[in-house]
Amino acid sequence: MVCLVTGSSRGLGRAVAIAFGREGHRVVVHYRERAAEAEETASLIRESMVLSADVRDSGEVAALVDEVIKKWGGIDVLVNNAGITKEALLIRTTERDFDEVMDTNLRGAFNLIRAVAPRMIERKSGHIINISSIAGIRGREGLAAYSASKAALAGLTLAAARELGAYNIMVNTVLPGYMLTGMGTGAGEKARQAALRDSIVKDFSDPDRVARFICYLCGTTGITGQVFNLDSRTV
Ligand SMILES: NC(=O)c1ccc[n+]([C@@H]2O[C@H](COP(=O)([O-])OP(=O)(O)OC[C@H]3O[C@@H](n4cnc5c(N)ncnc54)[C@H](OP(=O)(O)O)[C@@H]3O)[C@@H](O)[C@H]2O)c1
Repeated sequence: MVCLVTGSSRGLGRAVAIAFGREGHRVVVHYRERAAEAEETASLIRESMVLSADVRDSGEVAALVDEVIKKWGGIDVLVNNAGITKEALLIRTTERDFDEVMDTNLRGAFNLIRAVAPRMIERKSGHIINISSIAGIRGREGLAAYSASKAALAGLTLAAARELGAYNIMVNTVLPGYMLTGMGTGAGEKARQAALRDSIVKDFSDPDRVARFICYLCGTTGITGQVFNLDSRTV
């Protein structure tokens, strides 16, 4: 399979890219600005290509997808993992930060699906996984824009699953849980302690475990429009 994992220069995306590589798949390692980290991810995968695009920009995304299709003929798996957050109380969140979070987390996934789906429709197969967050279901203080973007991503996932199901394209959401990757470490000590306290198993989520789950899901068929919650927090 050809697997495109957005934001695979580091964090969860890197773990997912490596997991697909380990299973013998061809992997598109995607990043926005950290080229060295993306090359490092690629160095751990037998067959990969490293491409950059700002997911907010539909033109850049279309060019990236065209390049993959030209070289490898199509994309079997799309993992919309690239994401950002801007922490601030709602009343202190600037319009600019709100737009940046929505454009990356929601419009980015929309841009990718719109670019990748036509070829998947032609080939009547594909898997799309959108990486969301428990914040999109329960909401989180200080994360209004992020929570809103991830909640909206759930609606996008469901609509896409309904539209694309007839073409044997499976569209699902995975909630990875609190990981000590870029976003998890960036949130600060207080947030980390709260995540541990709220976790039933009193541990953080493991990106490699999440990655293995995503690989497994992409090896199945007939499962679509679902939310897979790998987050062991109860609140
Ligand atoms: N970490 C957690 O605890 C946690 C919990 C729940 C959900 N999630 C979700 O899991 C996903 C990954 O989180 P993470 O902590 O692994 O993230 P991370 O380490 O901060 O990495 C973010 C990735 O997204 C890419 N990216 C950011 N903005 C982009 C843009 N405009 N265009 C293209 N690529 C862009 C980055 O590329 P560069 O390296 O080039 O900047 C990087 O590869 C996110 O969707 C996040 O919302 C994370």
